[in-house]
Amino acid sequence: MPTVSRRQFLKLSVALGASLAWGCATVRPSSSGWRERRELYPQGVASGDPDDNSVLLWTRRPYVDGRASATLHVEVADDAAFTRVIAKTTTRVQPESDWTCRVLVGNLPAAREYWYRFTDDEGNGSRIGRTLTAPHPDDPRPTRFAFVSCQDICLGYLNAYRRMIFEDERAAPEERLGFVLHLGDFIYEVVAYPNQVKNGREYDRVVTFPIKYPKGKVVAKNRFWVPDSLEDYRVAYHAYLQDPDLQDARARWPFVAMWDNHEFSWQGWQSIQQFPGTDGWVPAQTLKVAAMQAWFEYQPARVTAPSRSLETFGAPHVVDTAVKDFDDDGLGIEPNNLAAINCLIGYRALRWGRHIDLIITDQRSYRSHDPGDRDEINPLFEGDKLGFVPEQLWAQVDAGRAYANGRPPAKLSFGDKSVANYRAGEAPQTMLGAKQKAWFLARLRGAKATWKIWGNSLGTPDQRVDPQNLPATVGKYPEGAGYATIDLHDWGAMYHERAEIFDAVRDAGITGFAIVAGDRHSFWAGYAAKALPPAAFEPVGVTFVGGSVTSVGMAEANEYGLKKDDPSRPLYVANPGGGPPQCTANLLLRHGVRSALEFASSGDLQKALAVRNPDLAPHLTFVDVGGHGYATVRVDADKMVTEFVCIPRPIARSTSADGGPLRYRVRLEVPLWRAGERPQMRQTIVEGDTGLSV
Ligand SMILES: [Fe+2]
Repeated sequence: MPTVSRRQFLKLSVALGASLAWGCATVRPSSSGWRERRELYPQGVASGDPDDNSVLLWTRRPYVDGRASATLHVEVADDAAFTRVIAKTTTRVQPESDWTCRVLVGNLPAAREYWYRFTDDEGNGSRIGRTLTAPHPDDPRPTRFAFVSCQDICLGYLNAYRRMIFEDERAAPEERLGFVLHLGDFIYEVVAYPNQVKNGREYDRVVTFPIKYPKGKVVAKNRFWVPDSLEDYRVAYHAYLQDPDLQDARARWPFVAMWDNHEFSWQGWQSIQQFPGTDGWVPAQTLKVAAMQAWFEYQPARVTAPSRSLETFGAPHVVDTAVKDFDDDGLGIEPNNLAAINCLIGYRALRWGRHIDLIITDQRSYRSHDPGDRDEINPLFEGDKLGFVPEQLWAQVDAGRAYANGRPPAKLSFGDKSVANYRAGEAPQTMLGAKQKAWFLARLRGAKATWKIWGNSLGTPDQRVDPQNLPATVGKYPEGAGYATIDLHDWGAMYHERAEIFDAVRDAGITGFAIVAGDRHSFWAGYAAKALPPAAFEPVGVTFVGGSVTSVGMAEANEYGLKKDDPSRPLYVANPGGGPPQCTANLLLRHGVRSALEFASSGDLQKALAVRNPDLAPHLTFVDVGGHGYATVRVDADKMVTEFVCIPRPIARSTSADGGPLRYRVRLEVPLWRAGERPQMRQTIVEGDTGLSV
């Protein structure tokens, strides 16, 4: 039975903005006169952020007859036929919130399945949604959830959700998913219009144009349109939620959602936009607020709108103003920037039974300016064709004045080039910002569940290569520059702050620490460690990145982006024997340049593995930079089992009930470790072929 009293529940709902439905002991059949009229609810229904006695429900019922508002009746039943309605209430939709509504239903028994629906005054009903409450914090039973990210609908189809639904419907009740964790890029705000796409194609994809912004602005030298108003962001959500696969998924499970960059702006940080081809920073406080308002309107989540109401957002008034001054944590102190980034706090934590404390962070709203996005560094890389950045150099840029315990070098060097260390007096970069980081570490230290799961839009594993082993025929990498990273934008190269977090995990003796992430458009599994050989490799947890639902990954981009005569192409893609392209990048990242080059020339995987570099990537168990799909996590008192469910490139909508074929299913099993022990991960290929991900 629920452990939260009605009074406590009222307090909670006031904090969230409103109190609506209250589950009651009297069970009765439906009396709403519901007749399904799905077309009047074009974005379907959804639920979000369940706890062990309540859940948020959502729908959109737009009217075009000029009325100022309308009433919807909400029913929650414990059967799909609604013969046993256990909670009902009314809610209001109005144009101020784009005709969306959020309803908090409380006093529900834990760990149960529910059905819900909305009906207007005329009896026109939404589709029926299914949702769940979380297990009680003492509930010892195993639980499962899925995590997803990156679902550009202009470039692909959401077959992954179809597969997820198919498998869940056939699973034993105790093995069904409790929720879907969406780690961002739920929408892509950068869209191409027909005149911006050559031959209607991008890579392997036939581009579609489901979004036309009422206002919009054109950016990146006329490559894309992006939103330029609240209405524009709303139009993006309308299009996404009209997708039948996504809509069915939202109607089947509660979602727990967090934004990444594309919910606001591709290269955005805090309330600032940047676009290739546009000089400097574009102050965008009004658009950050608009993006947050649209997110609030379309994602039922336990977040507090400025209005403190579930009905309308109550956007703060802000003015687009250049952000010039930053505090020591890289936070832009311009008042409109602060108002915009604080108008909706997305970071939050959820408890799911005895075994899951899920802590979700925001990687975009508080992060400091990218220290690599500075003219001072450019002379180091003039003439460089490989694009590898030495780890040591990047560690100096990343940590600034904190490098080497406060002894940063006077110069930054790459081969025979050097520049003054422009970071020597500056603070380390931060992804989380000071306030969120303090909250995050406190939540982590206080987490009591068996598994402490960090829901993170950005991946943490190092994306490391060993160009010191390259033959001169492929490219010239300076002698002595050591290991390098191929990517600078996520936690994999945020060395200083990542170490601070991992050290906190170690120092607090936290076990069961696991990271689930998105954004990379690829599957990664391995260990959470702050450093790699020749430094001490001391994992404090395990880390996973899920493949994109649709968005183009590195493997596909490389097939098109690297010219056939580019000497570095074999490091990433190869067609040994003239066959179809194979992703040697998977060998590059786990085994090193020699393995990738050997496979590219001989096509012999055993020969390629025989020349692997064992010190390159002890932190990685699995990498596939060509994988799409989703991941599931099952936890109990003894182990965490993560499965990567990989589908082929989703270039056409699957017409079959199972969402189309699988490429592979990989299981990564991690027994719970004790404080002071190292986590261990065991990989099993359950079905299919993982290609060069070996
Ligand atoms: Fe993405």
